[in-house]
Amino acid sequence: MEIELHSLFPTAVVSILDPSFSLTEKERDVIWNYRLDNDNNYHNCHASYSGRILEDRKLRRFKKYLQGHLEAYVSDIMKCDNKIKITNSWGNYSHTGNCHRFHQHSNSILSGIYYLQVEDSVPLLEFEKTNRYFLEYRRREETSFNSSNYTINLKDGMLVIFPSNLTHSVPVNTSNKWRISVAFNSFLLGQIDCGGYEELNIKDA
Ligand SMILES: [Fe+2]
Repeated sequence: MEIELHSLFPTAVVSILDPSFSLTEKERDVIWNYRLDNDNNYHNCHASYSGRILEDRKLRRFKKYLQGHLEAYVSDIMKCDNKIKITNSWGNYSHTGNCHRFHQHSNSILSGIYYLQVEDSVPLLEFEKTNRYFLEYRRREETSFNSSNYTINLKDGMLVIFPSNLTHSVPVNTSNKWRISVAFNSFLLGQIDCGGYEELNIKDA
């Protein structure tokens, strides 16, 4: 008898802890100074006042680091030779009681989140499957085939890259310390279609 289990269309979420990179105090200050004082009601946390903070020249080194790992995802996992551009980037600043409710990132192919300061704050990033609540049955054991959510334990300095249409959330910050992260969206550039009536050529502005 031959039985083969076919794992169809798995989703690649990459978490990276790179000891060769860390933000300087100056760079951390730049990110902190983008913080808006008002609560952002949609995500129940503070956001940056700019949606393009990685375009700040003082964060050029940080952007280059993120871009490198983004390009590695496109090349190594997607096996795609197109360039990819960071389109939007913003800061998230969650204090006690703040959280990120389940959401997706629109108008983007890959998203990334770099965690500057999380470890005291219930440091989890939770992803959930589409149609999570369609069928919830009792499981003897959680596996990648039967689970409807997946949790990553976050650490300070961790970068997570994932497909932008994956629903994700971060639980309530129960500590007295700010939980700080920088998130970004991206899109492929150039001829990205496979020909025919689906032609799509994205030019950089
Ligand atoms: Fe998000």
